[in-house]
Amino acid sequence: MKRKDMEKLAIEGGKPVRKKPFPARILFDEKEKEATLRVIERTMKGPEAIDMMGTGPEVEAYKKEFAKFFCTKFAQPVTSGTAAIHTALGALRLEPGTEVITSPITDPGTVTPILLLNCIPVFADTDYETLNITADSIKKKITKKTKVIIPVHLAGQPADMEPIMKLAKKHKLTVIEDCAQSHGTKYKGKYVGSIGDLGAFSLMAGKHMTSGGQGGMVITNNEKLYWNVKRFADRGKPFGSKNPTNLFLGAQYRVTELQAAIGRTQLKKLKGRIKKRQNILRELNKGMKNLKVIKLWKTINGASPNPWFCFLHYDQRKMKVNKEKFAQAAAAEGIPVGAHYTTVMYEQTWIKEKNTYGISHCPWSCPKGRNINYKNSCPVAEKALADHMTLYINECWTDKEIEDTIKVLEKVEKYYLL
Ligand SMILES: Cc1ncc(COP(=O)(O)O)c(C=O)c1O
Repeated sequence: MKRKDMEKLAIEGGKPVRKKPFPARILFDEKEKEATLRVIERTMKGPEAIDMMGTGPEVEAYKKEFAKFFCTKFAQPVTSGTAAIHTALGALRLEPGTEVITSPITDPGTVTPILLLNCIPVFADTDYETLNITADSIKKKITKKTKVIIPVHLAGQPADMEPIMKLAKKHKLTVIEDCAQSHGTKYKGKYVGSIGDLGAFSLMAGKHMTSGGQGGMVITNNEKLYWNVKRFADRGKPFGSKNPTNLFLGAQYRVTELQAAIGRTQLKKLKGRIKKRQNILRELNKGMKNLKVIKLWKTINGASPNPWFCFLHYDQRKMKVNKEKFAQAAAAEGIPVGAHYTTVMYEQTWIKEKNTYGISHCPWSCPKGRNINYKNSCPVAEKALADHMTLYINECWTDKEIEDTIKVLEKVEKYYLL
C-alpha cells in the first residue's frame, strides 16, 4: 500500500485506532479491604497488633506463604526492593571494596545497596536481544575482588541462569537474583529467585504484586544466610543466636502487620495475574507475526516469562522515522508505547559523577576501592536500549486491548515503512 492511499495517522490529523483510554490497573478489591480491616480490628483491641516488631502473626504467615509459593525454605519481608537487595548483600558481610557484578540495564535500586555497603558495582554487558547479562559477559568482569553476581531478570524475562550458576560455582561467587520485575517468572521449571543463593523482590505497587504500596522480600534456601538476612533487616539483632546483643551493622527494614496482610492477599492473586500476562504475551506474539520491523524481544530457551512490560525491537534502517517519532505516533493512535526504557546505569549522573558520600567519590576512591571508568563499558547494552521501545501491559487488559495494540502497530509500521 502506498503512503498516500493509507488512512492518515492520528498525529497527522487522521482518525486514531483507539480513542478510549486503556483500562485502569486495579490492584485491590474487597479481599485487601478485608485483610486491612482484620489488622485494624485487632489493633482496636490492643496496640501490639499494628507494631509487633515485624514478627506478628500476619508477618509470620506471610513469610511462610511467600517461601512456599517460590519453593524456598525461607523468606524475609522488607520495606522495598532496594532494601531487599541491601539486605541480601548485607547478609553476606562483604569487605569494603568487594566487587559486585550486575546489569547496566536496571533500576538504581539494584546498584544503590552495593554502594551503601562500600562495595564497587561492576557492569557486565547484556545480550542484545534479551537485555539481560550473560555468563559470557560476567566472566569478562571477574577479578580477584569479585564476590557477588546480581543478575536482573529484566521486564519479567529470566536471565540465562544455568551458565551463570555454573560460572558462580567455579569462581565461588554468591548469586543474588534481582526479581523486582519478575514475580512468578520461571526458568527451566524453577521460579526465579529460587535458583541463586538469594532472591530479592520489590513489592511496590507498580510491580506484579504489592504489599500495600511499597515493600520487598528476600528468599533463600540457605539457613545461615537467612539468619543474617533477618538480622541485617533489623539492625543486626541476634536472631537465631544466643548472644544477647546486636551482632553487626544493619538497617531497619521491618514491615508492619498491615503490609503483610495485604501482601498475603496479593500473593493469592499472583497465579491468576501470571496467567493473564502470559496470555497477553502469547497473543501479541501471534498477532505481531506479520509485522516486518517491530518485534517483541526474544524469549530464551527454558524461559517462562511473566512480562512486567514488553520490549519492542525497532530497526531504524527499515523505517522512515526514528523510534521516538514511531512511539509518538503509536501513542497518538491510543496505545501505551514509549520510546525509551532507561539509559545504562553508568550514564546516569549519580554514577557518572560518582556522587556518593560528600565529594569523596567513595567507595571508588577509597583505599580498598577501584576507580573504574565505566564509559562505553557495555556497548551491546547501549545499542540494545537504543533499538528498543517499551509497551506497558498489565493483567487488566482484555482481548480488545491486545487487538487494538496489534492494529496500531500494524498501521504505524505500514505508514512509516521504507
Ligand atoms: C530491577 C529492579 N531492581 C530493584 C528495584 C528497586 O525496587 P524498589 O523501588 O521497591 O525499591 C526496582 C524497582 O523498580 C527494579 O526494577
